[in-house]
Amino acid sequence: MDKLEFLRRELDSLHKESLFNEIRTIEGPQGAWIVVNGKRVLNLCSNNYLGFADHAELKEASKRAVDEYGVGPGAVRTIAGTQTIHLELERKLAEFKHAEACIALQGGFVANLAVIPAITGEGDIIFSDELNHASIIDGCRLSRAKVVRYAHNDTADLKKKIIEHKDSARRMLVVTDGVFSMDGDIAPLPHIVDVADEYGVIVMVDDAHGEGVLGDSGRGIVNHFGLEGRVEIEVGTLSKAFGVMGGFITGPEVLIDYLKQKGRPFLFSTGLTPADTAAAIAAVDVLTKGDELVRKLWDNASYFQEKLTDAGFDIGSTETPITPVMLGDEKIASTFSRKLYNEGVFAQSISYPTVARGKARIRCMLSAAHQEEDLDHALNAFVSVARELGI
Ligand SMILES: Cc1ncc(COP(=O)(O)O)c(C=O)c1O
Repeated sequence: MDKLEFLRRELDSLHKESLFNEIRTIEGPQGAWIVVNGKRVLNLCSNNYLGFADHAELKEASKRAVDEYGVGPGAVRTIAGTQTIHLELERKLAEFKHAEACIALQGGFVANLAVIPAITGEGDIIFSDELNHASIIDGCRLSRAKVVRYAHNDTADLKKKIIEHKDSARRMLVVTDGVFSMDGDIAPLPHIVDVADEYGVIVMVDDAHGEGVLGDSGRGIVNHFGLEGRVEIEVGTLSKAFGVMGGFITGPEVLIDYLKQKGRPFLFSTGLTPADTAAAIAAVDVLTKGDELVRKLWDNASYFQEKLTDAGFDIGSTETPITPVMLGDEKIASTFSRKLYNEGVFAQSISYPTVARGKARIRCMLSAAHQEEDLDHALNAFVSVARELGI
């Protein structure tokens, strides 16, 4: 008897519904141009916003850290796995984010799993934007708190739901993505904070796509809106604009002290490697020295988005370098993506269940690593594929 037969059936049905994820292989480092399945293509898919994934200073820092600290921390952070380099990263990130303190974790996903269940539980209510990232959803589930979803970026709905539920809650938390990764729109954080303050609700923002992108030198959404000191919990990732691997949480010292005692992935899973930690420190150092890469990213985004719009494409409601090209139909989006690849442009289609049915799109991720001629190449490919498909 094949006890895993049900998995084969599940996989077959994913294939039948065109929902099977073909995992492409990148040969060599991330960059503006990459080799995918043997073909050199322009990369419009990665979260390498600032080009840090293959940055000379980050790579050098990693190599030095391996010589100095070895390749692995050898134990969980609370037993014998906290090296001086971890504390240096946490201190630098807290300084960079203008926060009191920081805790580094193994990923942004893990950071959400660490913080949400640590600070909420049965009897509490979490207000969660309906389009929040999967890791927030999973963190909420693990917490056993009651989850109340509010309409996307709708603070009137948030307020209504807080009023409806506040009398039955022990504690309340509102949690939102900072930048929504499928549409590139930004959470209305000042309004969320105002509503939350009115009812004593703790505010948490997951700034995975805002770090290195929004705010002064990429300090993120809280800095962008001048809300430092008014948002209790900021979650970040080191895996996107920072170009490396890992996650972190910044906030008041009391929160971070508590998470170092109660955050389960901190207590029960080994921390970042020395190489990752050192590269992340180098990323913070580069950003602290100047904002050239952040400005280049935004210049590239404006150029590309303006030209796409001029050519008649619908780029939705983006306010950031995340650039969705809305196509609607799932099959058209996947054909469009395949044809772009044939033209030398790697830009993936995103469709149901990641976004709603009928809202399929090609999602283009801009980077400071792109040059204007790269973007022109992409624009020409978009226009020629659209013409070929009669769009
Ligand atoms: C909003 C958000 N949070 C968390 C994550 C996960 O971050 P990481 O890749 O560092 O685990 C992502 C990545 O897709 C994200 O978009």
